[in-house]
Amino acid sequence: MFRIVVFVSGRGSNLKSVYNSIVNGKIKAHIFAVVSNKKDCGAIDFAKRKNINTYFVSSLNKVGSVSYSELVNIFESNRVNLIVLAGFLKKIPDYFVQRFEFKIINIHPALLPFFGGKGMYGKNVHRAVFNSGTKVSGATVHFVDTIFDHGLIIAQQCTDISNAKTPEAIAEKVLKIEHKILPVVVKKFVERKVKVESNRVFLLE
Ligand code: GAR
Repeated sequence: MFRIVVFVSGRGSNLKSVYNSIVNGKIKAHIFAVVSNKKDCGAIDFAKRKNINTYFVSSLNKVGSVSYSELVNIFESNRVNLIVLAGFLKKIPDYFVQRFEFKIINIHPALLPFFGGKGMYGKNVHRAVFNSGTKVSGATVHFVDTIFDHGLIIAQQCTDISNAKTPEAIAEKVLKIEHKILPVVVKKFVERKVKVESNRVFLLE
């Protein structure tokens, strides 16, 4: 069975969207574990309620935590196929990213390559989009490389925000798109329908 790990830091709505697609049979995979840099957050509560393994990751050897190098061993020995960053707000060490090259994906709440980079997460992104005056925003799923929000783009969908009166209104519209595109992309990975060629990513039918 295709094994997925989901990294989270917050409320976990994207984790839920992937989980629900698995439970309703659209994605034939298993969530092997949920990893967070926060001991308590909505996403971890959700994972525990669903009896999914959880790990608290820290580079600082905090009580009850695992290190990234321990996670490498756990994921390799358990043959994890895909790591999904779903609202994970910490930078992952380069050696970890390199070890799982083309196996880590991230969902970003804007249309990369714009409105990404260090500090561009959650509300900050939507505020920057709002202040820029742009009329469209959207969500991007991309491969993770060693630079923030920089890896190859796998999928994007845009939404008209010309009537949005607040950053929160943009966030609400974009989140709906996130919940649509992340499960679609995960499904493509499970079905081995993601191909990288000429520095572009193709999702096969
Ligand atoms: C999502 O909007 C996700 O795109 C964003 O954090 C939110 C997590 O929500 N990620 C980033 O901003 C990463 N740069 P969730 O916990 O409800 O899935």
